[in-house]
Amino acid sequence: MTPNFKKGFDTICIKDDTIYSSIAHTTPIFASSTYVYESPEKAMEVFRGNEEAFIYGRWNHPNVELVENKLTALESFGIENLEAKGYLFSTGMAAIAALFNSTLSAGGTIIAQGNIYGTTVELLNTLVKNRGVQIVFADFADIDNLKKFAQTEKNIQLFYAETPSNPTISAYDLEVISAIAHSCGAKMAVDNTFATPYLQQPFAQGVDFIAHSTTKFLNGHGTALGGFLIGRDKNFMQQEVWKQRKLQGAMLSPFDAWLLNQGLKTLSIRMDKHCNNAREVAVFLRNHQAINKVNYLGFEDHPHHTIAKKQMREFGGVISFELKAGLEAGIKLMNQVKLCTLTASLGTADTLIQHPASMTHFNVPKEQREKFGITDGLIRLSVGMENIEDIIGDLEMGLK
Ligand SMILES: Cc1ncc(COP(=O)(O)O)c(C=O)c1O
Repeated sequence: MTPNFKKGFDTICIKDDTIYSSIAHTTPIFASSTYVYESPEKAMEVFRGNEEAFIYGRWNHPNVELVENKLTALESFGIENLEAKGYLFSTGMAAIAALFNSTLSAGGTIIAQGNIYGTTVELLNTLVKNRGVQIVFADFADIDNLKKFAQTEKNIQLFYAETPSNPTISAYDLEVISAIAHSCGAKMAVDNTFATPYLQQPFAQGVDFIAHSTTKFLNGHGTALGGFLIGRDKNFMQQEVWKQRKLQGAMLSPFDAWLLNQGLKTLSIRMDKHCNNAREVAVFLRNHQAINKVNYLGFEDHPHHTIAKKQMREFGGVISFELKAGLEAGIKLMNQVKLCTLTASLGTADTLIQHPASMTHFNVPKEQREKFGITDGLIRLSVGMENIEDIIGDLEMGLK
């Protein structure tokens, strides 16, 4: 089944083009590790790659194929002359690892944004570096510096961005950075987890690869881990990235893919509500006497507001902030809130609060954290869809 690009965004999210059953109304969970063939001849043709069919759950299965087609259509939505191909993985990190494994080789260089998800930094600083790849962390707001790297660094294979970034809530110009990457023969990849294809479509900005932790807004309910990697070069995806998933076995399970499909159906309505609530919470915090700084891309005086406005539909559901009295006050806040849940994830229906320096970004070296704005006093809030008065009331009480 090929994705149908003519449908509206919400229809793609909601409608299961095929439900792989003649009697069910919604797609069942295919709790089967392997699939049957009508004849040995047919099985031989499938294994030779001459015919398409489900073979074995680590290769492909109906629940994964259904969601892959939806996410491919969403990331490609409205973009002309694009024949992208995407694969689901067991986690966001498995998708990002497949990207690095398939695009970076010994002697190559990756220019990565410095303020990205902590485990991605750790992956680059350990397993990727150990393969003989040079890792260069850079400030992706400094375009002149990126241009300099493109001219001076040897064998750059990939530029890697995350926008909006976790947890500093910065935005980087995907169109400009893609052009810089291409000027030196490199590819451009972005982690689009915070925005989802509803708020931002990186292929329209010239990006080559898009990674997602589907664990966050795409699933939307905190019920399952998952990852997605899509590339504009279909052949590369079908050969190199497909091999990564099949041979390393990081396949999304039928149940987790089914849960992801349930969440995806309400993506736009959820994102609108997250964005509206985040805006109101950001304004409340900015006006509170205990708060020093609020990182929210919707503020016109945010240094990256214009970039976010150019490439995003709205400004996202995650914000971060610093208290005037520093980390001690942040710990007190996290202890006092009752509605906001203290946990490391984001993008769920409910509001989540956490402390990046000691939790999600603990494994990023302290110098790198400080250099790229992940201060010890920074608190991250994934604003949920509860009644706005309740979220603000909880924070007000917590800040007393
Ligand atoms: C921006 C971003 N990318 C990637 C990941 C990794 O995803 P997963 O936890 O699904 O492996 C996370 C997890 O928090 C994230 O926030």
